[in-house]
Amino acid sequence: MSKVRVGIIGTGGISHFHMHGYLAQAENCEVVAACDINEPKLKAFGEKYGIKNLYTDYNEMLAKERLDAVSVTTWNSVHCPATVAALNAGVSVLCEKPMAMNTEEALRMEEAAKKNGKVLQIGFVRRFGMDTAAAKDFIDSGAAGDIYFAEVSYLRRNGCPGGWFGDKRYSGGGPLIDLGVHVMDLARYLAGRPKPVAAYGFTFSNIGPGGGSAEKAWTIEVSGEFEHNVEDFATGFIRFDNGFVMHVSASFVLNIKEDYGDVVLFGTKAGIKLGNPSEYYTSDGKNGVLDGEKYNKPSGFTEIFDYEVAHFVDCVKNGTPCIAPAEDGVMLMRMIDAIYESARTGKEAVIKY
Ligand SMILES: NC(=O)c1ccc[n+]([C@@H]2O[C@H](COP(=O)([O-])OP(=O)(O)OC[C@H]3O[C@@H](n4cnc5c(N)ncnc54)[C@H](O)[C@@H]3O)[C@@H](O)[C@H]2O)c1
Repeated sequence: MSKVRVGIIGTGGISHFHMHGYLAQAENCEVVAACDINEPKLKAFGEKYGIKNLYTDYNEMLAKERLDAVSVTTWNSVHCPATVAALNAGVSVLCEKPMAMNTEEALRMEEAAKKNGKVLQIGFVRRFGMDTAAAKDFIDSGAAGDIYFAEVSYLRRNGCPGGWFGDKRYSGGGPLIDLGVHVMDLARYLAGRPKPVAAYGFTFSNIGPGGGSAEKAWTIEVSGEFEHNVEDFATGFIRFDNGFVMHVSASFVLNIKEDYGDVVLFGTKAGIKLGNPSEYYTSDGKNGVLDGEKYNKPSGFTEIFDYEVAHFVDCVKNGTPCIAPAEDGVMLMRMIDAIYESARTGKEAVIKY
């Protein structure tokens, strides 16, 4: 394959970070088409990047353009239909997180990738950060021993994005599926990708969007078509087949001093906390930081998207094995579904295979 021919499905906020990544890979790929149901937004996107082939229907784009790959950067309810349509058209997909609305959709997407022999990468962008790379090397070297517990959080004091993010029909859920997914994925990835077997979860909708205060962290386009019906806060324990346990907490709205998030893993030889730089703590007091030369690369929001997109292009062009494959997206959807199910029933949810 010469240059990978790329289309963008969904030209909202995050698509610009994908575009930045594709433009940084201009010797290996070219974005030739874009699609959005919102025509003014689509037109502005086309003008900004000089993309002439614009569509309001992704099926039409897939039929008319000779594409090798697409980014699916729509709201969550379109991830599954757009991804399956692309894969069935013989096009590889970089699909934003969360992979889908639920496990059932995620399994259909994984199946379509297998059936068509195409790449389906899930947008677990934080896997590409240098904090994660340092922690992974440390854990993989055996220096942390066996990882048996992780405490992960992604907490916003007052950061409900509004719009479709607050409407389950489009998002599938609130902060757990939107924010929790990032840190849950990191913990499972670093712990060696064990298989989740059960969860005990709780969700709360006590405060509502905006928290009753004028302060608003950020807001995206809100239209009358969206309701607000997601949780403010979710928390839960997930148990894995190898004995590993994860505790996750995620909020859009919570009465805390300020936003914070942590990914901390505990092993028999050391504990590791992700950060810039990541840190480790041992029982003999030999604590330290994971800041080798290898990790001395910029790791801001834009850069990690650049690394993610570069990896995707490499997988499509050169057949490099994908480090954020569909099967991991499916596992995350199983974990999220189980927490929501347990929160509904008040009982532990067993994850069935
Ligand atoms: N990896 C990250 O850190 C990160 C950050 C933000 C958002 N995201 C994810 O990216 C996705 C998009 O989020 P966003 O913030 O860009 O939202 P957004 O609302 O800004 O953009 C979504 C776009 O999808 C379009 N769309 C909806 N249905 C469509 C369809 N059938 N065909 C084509 N376009 C369609 C909408 O019109 C909108 O322009 C979400 O899944 C979100 O979870 C990931």
